[in-house]
Amino acid sequence: MSYYVSVPFVPTPVEVIRRMLQMADLKPGELLLDLGCGDGRVLIVAAKEFGARAVGIEVRSDLASRAAYNAMKEGVSDRVLVINGNFFEIRLPPADVIFMYLLTSVNERLRPKLEREAKPGARIVSHDFEVTGWRPKMVEDFRDGGRSHRLYLYVRE
Ligand SMILES: C[S@@+](CC[C@H](N)C(=O)[O-])C[C@H]1O[C@@H](n2cnc3c(N)ncnc32)[C@H](O)[C@@H]1O
Repeated sequence: MSYYVSVPFVPTPVEVIRRMLQMADLKPGELLLDLGCGDGRVLIVAAKEFGARAVGIEVRSDLASRAAYNAMKEGVSDRVLVINGNFFEIRLPPADVIFMYLLTSVNERLRPKLEREAKPGARIVSHDFEVTGWRPKMVEDFRDGGRSHRLYLYVRE
């Protein structure tokens, strides 16, 4: 069954990405995973500004190619890996921080997989959409470009 058709590509503004990675306390050398990485902007901020390694999974081949190209253009392709595929069908790498900008319904379907595969202590940040059934460690309303973004931080036990 395909779950991805209902999630369009809507990029997260860079200031919002920065704030989310700060909330997640992403550290140099840590591994960030973006579930549905779009044009790769989260991966690039993680690698360039936080010194992290980053993996993105993106189902649309045009976006996966664009993300890999953008990482190369920004000089971080040695620390960024883009996988063209459906994250429901791929075993998640052992990331320290997981980034999501999906939908509440998709988060709900992802939750059992995250509970099985996210490593203990992993920090999970979600833009605008909560993970129902999990208690957030932090919720913040962050203003950028005239609109408010609700940011959720969870920590896997
Ligand atoms: C709202 S965009 C967010 C892009 C990026 N993470 C950001 O915040 O700028 C969601 C992305 O997830 C991708 N996507 C949706 N479902 C997916 C799935 N099952 N597997 C991989 N990618 C998926 C979409 O193609 C889209 O590019």
